[in-house]
This record gives sequence, structure tokens and C-alpha cells, in this order.
Amino acid sequence: MSSDITLTDKTIIVSGASRGIGEAIARAAAGLGANVVLAARKQEGLDAVAASINEQGGSALPVACHMGQPDQIDNLFARAKDAYGPVHGLVNNAATNPYFGPMLGVEEPAFDKTVEVNLKGPLMASRAFVAQAAAGASIVNVASVSGMRAAPLQGVYGMTKAALISMSQTLAHELGPMGIRVNAIAPGLVETRFASGLIENEELLKYMVDRSPVGRHGQPDEIAGAAVYLLSDAASFMTGQTMVVDGGFTSG
Ligand SMILES: NC(=O)c1ccc[n+]([C@@H]2O[C@H](COP(=O)([O-])OP(=O)(O)OC[C@H]3O[C@@H](n4cnc5c(N)ncnc54)[C@H](OP(=O)(O)O)[C@@H]3O)[C@@H](O)[C@H]2O)c1
Repeated sequence: MSSDITLTDKTIIVSGASRGIGEAIARAAAGLGANVVLAARKQEGLDAVAASINEQGGSALPVACHMGQPDQIDNLFARAKDAYGPVHGLVNNAATNPYFGPMLGVEEPAFDKTVEVNLKGPLMASRAFVAQAAAGASIVNVASVSGMRAAPLQGVYGMTKAALISMSQTLAHELGPMGIRVNAIAPGLVETRFASGLIENEELLKYMVDRSPVGRHGQPDEIAGAAVYLLSDAASFMTGQTMVVDGGFTSG
């Protein structure tokens, strides 16, 4: 057991790693010595992040993968194994939120897409991960405070994040005997392309910031520390939990 947060010689797959929170997690993991496998749908964005990590002395493999498509997830894990051997960590970070509005107004295609990417993807990726993971392995699911409280106008997205927290708890129990830990992170409002609609809406931004003791929204790097801690052996006694990183928004 070690209290050091290090990922030396570990291989970590991060979905949604071409920008935002996923990019910050991948960069932080690489900085702590991990080989990182970067997944997202578009190859160009991944190539740019991988090139930058590799230029800085890290090791990154960019693999285009739609995280709602099981055959592409299988290919992602095969590519990771070919490049680096067994995978030690999985960060289910990619998500989508195509519908903004009252829950009962959602159209079926938007509902299905949200469930496919935000829930089916993490479950299928977890299955592929467990098929080849070693003891000491760790899964980190990026949920949201929207899965812990009512999420007006983002209710469908919020319910998938609540389910992701539930998935993390149950998988922690099911995989604990195999030495695999599963935790979630619930970020508050973080400045990314995904959140631009909220951050650019003065009224919504004020609502969030006024209820946050830190008095501002967050940056992707401020989520990455929680992820690398949970991936590392420093978190060996932590599983089935949700780390809330929200500037205190949900504490009031
Ligand atoms: N930003 C916030 O305020 C906030 C708050 C709470 C939770 N979160 C969570 O944090 C996570 C990351 O969000 P973010 O804010 O960093 O978003 P972002 O900057 O928009 O990045 C999203 C990433 O996911 C990838 N992606 C989207 N759909 C995908 C799919 N079907 N398959 C594979 N990759 C896909 C995108 O690349 P491609 O487009 O190339 O696929 C991109 O790399 C999400 O789970 C989100 O729910 C965000």
C-alpha cells in the first residue's frame, strides 16, 4: 500500500479524451507515468492531444471509438492491449446531452442516444475492461451533480448520471472480490464545450455561481486530480463512492 499518487507503468483508457475533462485527466495520468489510450469519435482531436503528450515525454495512443458502439469498444481494448499489454484503469468520461428541456418533452431518438452513450457505453466498456484487468485495477465513471439533485431542463441527462452512480456502486460490489475498484466523480459546472450553453447563459451561470462557496465555475484540471487519485493505489481502500468536485455547489 502506498499513499503516493503515481501511475507509473500503468495503462489507462480515457474516453472523451480529445478535449475538456477527459483531456485533462489523460494529461494528468500521463504526467504521473501512465501509458494513456485516448478515445473519442473524431481522430483529429485525439491525434493533437496524443502528439502533445508524446512530445512532453509521455506515451499516448489515440484510438477513434464511438463509446455507444460495442464493436468499436472491443476494437479500442484490442488496440490498447496490442500497444501496452493489460489495462489497469478505465475512465468512462465520454457523454452526450442532445436534449435541453422538460423531461416529458424529450423525443425518443434523443432519449435513446443519451442512454446509449452515457450508460450502455460505460457498462460495455467496463465489461471489456474486466475481461482482461488485473487485481488492483480501477474504473472511474465521470457522473455529474446533475445525477445527485433535480436537474431542471437537463433531466434526461441527469437521470443517466444518477444511473451511472448506481452502476458504480453495484459494480464495486460485484468486482470487489476480483480486486477491482469502481468509483464515480460528480463534477459541478466546468468550463468545457459541453457546458458552454450553461456558462454562456447569464441567468443559469449566476444560479450556479451564487450557490457555490468558491464563487465561480470550475476548470477541467480541477477534476483531473480526483480521477488520478481514484485510479492510483493511493485510493486502494476506496470503492463504490462518488467524489463530488463542485466548488461546494451541493453542500448547501
Ligand atoms: N462540463 C461540465 O460542466 C460537466 C459537469 C458535470 C459532468 N460533466 C461530465 O464530464 C464528462 C466530460 O464532459 P466535458 O464537459 O469535458 O465535455 P467536452 O469538453 O465536450 O468533451 C466531450 C468528449 O467526449 C467525446 N465524445 C462525445 N460523444 C462521444 C461518443 N459517443 N463516443 C466517444 N467519445 C465521445 C468528445 O469527442 P468527439 O466529439 O470527438 O467524440 C470529447 O472528447 C461528461 O461525462 C460530462 O457529462 C461535465
